[in-house]
Amino acid sequence: MAASSFNKEQYDECYSHVHSSPANRYYRPYHVFSPFVSGMHCFAEDFLFGKVLSRNDKTAVYRARHRHAPETPLIIKMFPAVLHSLGNDGNEECILGAITHPRIPRLNCAFRMSDADGVISVALVMAEAPGIPLIDLVLAKHLAGRTRDCHLVAYELLLQIAPVIHFLHQNNIAHRDVKLENVIIDPANSQMMLIDFDLAFLTLSGELPQLSVGSDGYKAPEMIDVRRTPSFSVDWFSLGVSVYAAATGLFPFNPDSGPLNYLKDVEKGCPAIRPCLDSESDAAVGEFWLSLLPIIIRGLLKSESDKRWNYWRIQEELNQT
Ligand SMILES: Nc1ncnc2c1ncn2[C@@H]1O[C@H](COP(=O)(O)OP(=O)(O)O)[C@@H](O)[C@H]1O
Ligand SMILES: [Mg+2]
Repeated sequence: MAASSFNKEQYDECYSHVHSSPANRYYRPYHVFSPFVSGMHCFAEDFLFGKVLSRNDKTAVYRARHRHAPETPLIIKMFPAVLHSLGNDGNEECILGAITHPRIPRLNCAFRMSDADGVISVALVMAEAPGIPLIDLVLAKHLAGRTRDCHLVAYELLLQIAPVIHFLHQNNIAHRDVKLENVIIDPANSQMMLIDFDLAFLTLSGELPQLSVGSDGYKAPEMIDVRRTPSFSVDWFSLGVSVYAAATGLFPFNPDSGPLNYLKDVEKGCPAIRPCLDSESDAAVGEFWLSLLPIIIRGLLKSESDKRWNYWRIQEELNQT
């Protein structure tokens, strides 16, 4: 797949544009999602807001439709504009707006709007990834005792999302929040997409700031240990946690034990993953592939980032066998 031409100038240009645009005005069209909407309308009043999919202290995410292209399912992610001044937003739209990948929802445009009390929000309009958060599917399957399904889902997660992470890194982007909550799976065909570029970071050197960003349980040890320098490999660790969690329904390292214990646990290495042999009738080839999972997970969960597996190492393992 061709890498998109994302660079620092593009990012800086976008970022300064975001930060200098006047309140309550449309400020940035990205991709055109229908000829109807072509570069024209991206104001709050052009959208019909539907169900709230998620809300926390930082963001609210809605299903939405554009009035002139109602057949296209959209998502609107809103941030309070106050985060703007903290430099927290502008980031997601500048990164999402610059990249194109079939497993990343496309950003269509961004605008600002104010509510009845005059509170200004920034809204990102993007394609809806069909399906449900992978965490919901995994928890439901584990609760139903469908271990083997979970191993298959974990394997699909690895096959589908590793190339997306690789693509991001080739475009100098670290995602920094890879987790089951940020992968949407379509249960009808098991197709997955990676979402949530809030914490994504553009780095030309490959180094990342020593900030403990990310989600508890998924963080690479170098995100926590201030003596270490995080790099793109933090995403491989988080993918390892995600694949482990999909396969087993558990975190490999207890996030509630405090940072020091967490680091010690990671140092000790990945807990054993019981091979899934509960379905004798499955094709031998299926068993064969699934037996690779624990090996790859262990490679992704290595404590030392320079020994940790990356895309090429995963491919090597898959091609070897
Ligand atoms: N493009 C999308 N397609 C489908 N669902 C989405 C999309 N973007 C967000 N969501 C839904 O909204 C939730 C929160 O969005 P996310 O971007 O992860 O925001 P947050 O930073 O609050 O975690 C996701 O877990 C998912 O359920
Ligand atoms: Mg999220």
